[in-house]
Amino acid sequence: LHHAEKLSGFVAVNGRQPVGLITYTIEGGDCEIVSLDSLEAGKGIGSNLIKAVLDLARDKRCIRVWLVTTNDNTGALCFYQKIGFKLVAIHNDTIKASRRLKPTIPELGYDDIPVRDEIELEIKI
Ligand SMILES: CC(C)(COP(=O)(O)OP(=O)(O)OC[C@H]1O[C@@H](n2cnc3c(N)ncnc32)[C@H](O)[C@@H]1OP(=O)(O)O)[C@@H](O)C(=O)NCCC(=O)NCCS
Repeated sequence: LHHAEKLSGFVAVNGRQPVGLITYTIEGGDCEIVSLDSLEAGKGIGSNLIKAVLDLARDKRCIRVWLVTTNDNTGALCFYQKIGFKLVAIHNDTIKASRRLKPTIPELGYDDIPVRDEIELEIKI
């Protein structure tokens, strides 16, 4: 569980208009991407925000950048693998516990796929 207001991040802007946000946390040589949202698909916003975090993680001498996404988010799984992340673990049925802490997590996600598992991806630096 993360308190979003306490996380560091980068905002992507188009002129003065915010068009994307990435948040992350660094702990013991690991940099976790906690959230990534691009408001204009397919314009390079998501990949440039990831690049900003990779550059920072390299500067801070992290050994890896990692994140989890849910099993239904096939678009994000495509996106992350296309830009170099590798699948490293499937955490089965962990969303049940997350849902107890955050009841707004829906039962059905993208394409009406049941939201059940967390898929962990990483880039080693
Ligand atoms: C996933 C997300 C961050 C991608 O952002 P984006 O700004 O569209 O990404 P980019 O434009 O940088 O795309 C980089 C590459 O990934 C591909 N890509 C992006 N989204 C994709 C998708 N849903 N399916 C397949 N490929 C995708 C792009 O086509 C592009 O490929 P190219 O270099 O060959 O053109 C965005 O769709 C989003 O905010 N989704 C909702 C929130 C979310 O799921 N966040 C991640 C969960 S942890």
